[in-house]
Amino acid sequence: MGDNMESLKMLLNNAKTGGYAVAAYNINNLEWTRFILEASMDSRAPLILEVSEGAVKYMGGFKLVVDMVNDLIEELAIDIPVALHLDHGRSFLVCKKAIDAGFTSVMFDGSDLPLSQNIALTKEVVDYAHLQNVTVEAEVGQVGENNKIGKRAEVGDCDRFVRETGVDCLAPALGNVHGLYNSNIQIDLKAAREISKLTNVPLVLHGGSGVSDEEFLELVNNGIYKVNINTALQMVWAKAVREYLDSNADVYDPRKIIKSGEQAIKNEVIRINNLLGSINKA
Ligand code: 13P
Repeated sequence: MGDNMESLKMLLNNAKTGGYAVAAYNINNLEWTRFILEASMDSRAPLILEVSEGAVKYMGGFKLVVDMVNDLIEELAIDIPVALHLDHGRSFLVCKKAIDAGFTSVMFDGSDLPLSQNIALTKEVVDYAHLQNVTVEAEVGQVGENNKIGKRAEVGDCDRFVRETGVDCLAPALGNVHGLYNSNIQIDLKAAREISKLTNVPLVLHGGSGVSDEEFLELVNNGIYKVNINTALQMVWAKAVREYLDSNADVYDPRKIIKSGEQAIKNEVIRINNLLGSINKA
């Protein structure tokens, strides 16, 4: 595990005990990582930095991401707990690469496989990860995409999945979608509560962007302790940068351009941490 990082399992157990949820923010580059680390430290909130396979490739590989996060924690004297998580790892090999490089947790996403195959592959990842104290998340059902709801998780399937895989936390599909929501989409919190009671593992909500403030406040009461956020930060950053460029047509310094979205990202991180109740919990 990365020297300066904490186990996801520990962060989620603390959240469960403390009655709050921890945000997992997707990172894309050095600057975003710094903005999110600083905003979380300012608000004294525990933090999960998560990286998709695509973002790992974009940034230059697993080792680079681990070293970058470790070095930023050290250089910026970040003293809140930070976990580094692989988001939607699609194969055993990708999860293994993340674990070997020092990620503190991985998600194995076998959601497009039949349940028994999803169970078998998740178990392989769990067996390997647990040898190195790495936490594993997996998905049952299918989180929707592009405003289309995916196949919802069956409560009984979730129970079987957790018993047979030994996974540490579970992302059941609850009618949630990645990206923005239209007004018809509602998260099935009743199903979350049943799954949480039956499995007794912390639940994860994917597609946290666009979830209403009222729903955010209800997540913890229904067993959800990790909330994934990607699109929301992309949107506030892009809006701020667009406005900056529109009113500063002669700027070409990339540092000024990327930085023009810094405050927007920081404000959104603090707003979400507030809704999840994780402020002042680190
Ligand atoms: P959003 O882009 O909807 O916030 O979803 C993020 C996510 O679930 C990453 O796994």
